[in-house]
Amino acid sequence: MSLRSRAENSCNAIARACFRASGPNADVISLRGVTLVYPNGTRALDGLNLEVAKGSFVFLVGGTGTGKSSLLRLLYREQRPTHGEVTVDNVRVDRIKRSRVPHLRRNVGVVFQDFKLLSDKTVWENVAFALQVTGAQTKDVIRQVPRVLDLVGLAHKTRMFPSELSGGEQQRVAIARALVNNPKILLCDEPTGNLDPANANEVMDLLHRINLKGTTVLVATHNALVVDRMRRRVIRLEDGTIVADEERGFYHLNGNGANAAGTPAPLRGSHGLGTNPLLLE
Ligand SMILES: Nc1ncnc2c1ncn2[C@@H]1O[C@H](COP(=O)(O)OP(=O)(O)OP(=O)(O)O)[C@@H](O)[C@H]1O
Ligand SMILES: [Mg+2]
Repeated sequence: MSLRSRAENSCNAIARACFRASGPNADVISLRGVTLVYPNGTRALDGLNLEVAKGSFVFLVGGTGTGKSSLLRLLYREQRPTHGEVTVDNVRVDRIKRSRVPHLRRNVGVVFQDFKLLSDKTVWENVAFALQVTGAQTKDVIRQVPRVLDLVGLAHKTRMFPSELSGGEQQRVAIARALVNNPKILLCDEPTGNLDPANANEVMDLLHRINLKGTTVLVATHNALVVDRMRRRVIRLEDGTIVADEERGFYHLNGNGANAAGTPAPLRGSHGLGTNPLLLE
């Protein structure tokens, strides 16, 4: 790591520490000494510590099987840690009762690589369903569903079924569904994994705009080009531990991946995403 990036990182670490100290809500996510061992004995996460400030945008990167999805699963309580503390929005999610999980998930939207839409429901119904299961009133459904469909640019496709949409459009429906409860945190596990470069860029652009509105966004990805162009906080996992954590980081340590010279790639528009083919790990 260059002297300059070392200095940048320590300044950022100090800034983060000061920000954390500024109030109990400054970190929206906190993991302390977290280990996750699956029932078959696989140690997916090993003594992991992580703090994520409210409103930040964070990439989780690392080779296959390094623990990215497992980490996200702890945050929406799909898994409980074997050891350690997981705090999300001031709630110890490792401790809450199963009956409180739906309440947690109103605050935490999740988006997956394979969209997970209901094929027999229209775009509108897919998004509305996520609200209805929380017991929302019809007037709220009628107000919120168009709001999020408009946000993701699909207001004109509300009556279509998932099979009538492109992959990028299906992912945007999934993002609308994740946002309809106004979550504070959006977790995305390989959101561009099934998309071509143009659609991947559109989805990342959308996540960026959602973050600008104040939602904390965590994205697990293998998409090196997007990471290198967005220049956000990059956390690299290896064997279930964090081996690098850089503000304005690159996909590869010291920027020697897609951008070996260490020079930021040219930015396009406000979101900094280009149209080149994506480099996959
Ligand atoms: N349900 C499970 N039961 C047992 N082991 C699991 C389970 N899910 C994941 N693992 C193991 O835990 C480790 C971490 O897996 P995880 O899915 O978190 O990795 P990942 O970084 O998301 O990988 P990828 O980039 O391929 O999605 C791997 O060794 C994996 O085989
Ligand atoms: Mg994964």
